[in-house]
Amino acid sequence: MRVALGEAEADLAIVNGSVVNVYNGEVEKASVLIKGNRIAYVGSDTGKAIGQSTRVINANGKTLIPGFIDGHTHIDGPYSISGILKYAIAGGTTTIITEVSDLGSVLGYEGIIQFLASIKKQPVKVFITVPPVVTISPVTEEHAITVEQLRRLLRRKDVLGLGEVYWGDVLSGNRRILDLITETIKQGKKVEGHSAGASGAKLQAYVSSGVSSCHEPITAEEVRERVRLGLFILIREGAVRRELEAISQIKDDDAVLNRLAISTDGVAPEQLISGGYMEFVVQKAINLGFKPVRAIQMATVNVARHFAIDDDIGGIAPGKYADIAIIPDLKTVKAEYVISNGRVVSQNGQVLVPPRKHRYPRSLWDTIHLARDFTADDFAIPLEGHRQAKVRLINQVTDLVTRQEFIDMPVTDGRLKADASKDIIKVAAIERAYGTGKSFTGLIRGLGLKKGAMATTDVWDCGDIIAVGADETDMAQAVNRIKELRGGIVICAGGSILAEIALPVAGTISTEPLETIADKFRRIQQTAAGLGAKSNNFGLTLATLPSPAIPFLRICSSGLFNLKNNRFVELTVG
Ligand SMILES: [Fe+2]
Repeated sequence: MRVALGEAEADLAIVNGSVVNVYNGEVEKASVLIKGNRIAYVGSDTGKAIGQSTRVINANGKTLIPGFIDGHTHIDGPYSISGILKYAIAGGTTTIITEVSDLGSVLGYEGIIQFLASIKKQPVKVFITVPPVVTISPVTEEHAITVEQLRRLLRRKDVLGLGEVYWGDVLSGNRRILDLITETIKQGKKVEGHSAGASGAKLQAYVSSGVSSCHEPITAEEVRERVRLGLFILIREGAVRRELEAISQIKDDDAVLNRLAISTDGVAPEQLISGGYMEFVVQKAINLGFKPVRAIQMATVNVARHFAIDDDIGGIAPGKYADIAIIPDLKTVKAEYVISNGRVVSQNGQVLVPPRKHRYPRSLWDTIHLARDFTADDFAIPLEGHRQAKVRLINQVTDLVTRQEFIDMPVTDGRLKADASKDIIKVAAIERAYGTGKSFTGLIRGLGLKKGAMATTDVWDCGDIIAVGADETDMAQAVNRIKELRGGIVICAGGSILAEIALPVAGTISTEPLETIADKFRRIQQTAAGLGAKSNNFGLTLATLPSPAIPFLRICSSGLFNLKNNRFVELTVG
């Protein structure tokens, strides 16, 4: 108050810039006075508040915007927290609201607590939504978050709600998930939605459960239908999907844009290096014809309002945290200065206040619980007494979507075998988080892999290793190598390891520099493609095989799971 009145000196003054006011859409020439970590004053009458103890940044000709907020993302891997925050800080992102689904799936409540420890005392703000852990795996379900654990988490300021709940599970009446939703609403926090593909009465039934947002629309029509139902929408432009271009039809529909945010839903190391983080998303929106102030609102105040943290962040106004980016002009989203909590944390892309490197506890470095080494025989599918069998295959129809397919296959030496010449190879899921020793092997068609094998611990919605291979010996070697690495992704062929990355923290996080991680992922993709893999992101294809988020024949260590009728199904029929 005294700084605003000119009775005390500001710590930091950013003078003569054009300030984007996200509350009324105006851009006006003004100075911003900062005391401690908060903004004290925005205007032209800085009075005596600029004194000897005030650091002054002259922003003449430049534009001041609020620091970006990523409202839906996944930053609990494959990089460490300091790896991603370095890029966030450099590009002008001062708040991240993230899911913790990887750690939540592998380690349950303990994983979430450990992630919360990693985001403490960082130069920028990180909040979480608690992963409900919607899973097809009975083992993961058994260790998933309980209502009592959620209650404890929701009391924390750094926890903004319940993370994305898939609509299928809500509608099928999953009791644990419904109880989590009820508890979250009771505590006045947000239930994040995921209504991919839902419409009509099903969508309305899902919304009536208490879900408040959706980040899955892929067309303008889907956006409109959801906004009409009162949902808040986050448009994705990130690692898994990019929808901004398709959605850009609504760029001038102001009423709808008020209920819209742009987010990443996860961003790959490669993308951070080549394009940056939220600054890339905002720039792309502007390039697609969204009005610059609109694009900035969609990456700042709109998100803050949705999560009810707009009293603190999201705009440049008195009382708000001093989270500000200075950019050359409204159409050039390239941060020259980034101020977070009143401190200059980055200048011209150089990070001045590096993120804290978190020391993950010992328990997180020990999550590959396999009792013994694997051999080729562990991936055998015995079918004694048959010469022929009708087999249910996973048919990989896109990089992510699978269907079921029935095919007559010969039984050789009492076993079902892979046949790479017909693009039919083995797929196995091995429980590794809780040492149950459970595993299941089936067959998959459409991956393209002609030889060798790939195995990964970096999978969605359960704590399994997923391994695929044209050769069982290579599958065993890949899994055994993963055990040595304490988690990771490994490709083997002809008895050699061709590419790998260690993910020793929880089996999903590397502590190496983000640039090294990007290199290794690139190498893995190139190697997989060299062995015939058709997917543009083979790691992601494998990662999503156990996920109930994507249709429709999935696999986990308990067997094949049909999402259409929500139950496990047999590998062979008749
Ligand atoms: Fe997500």
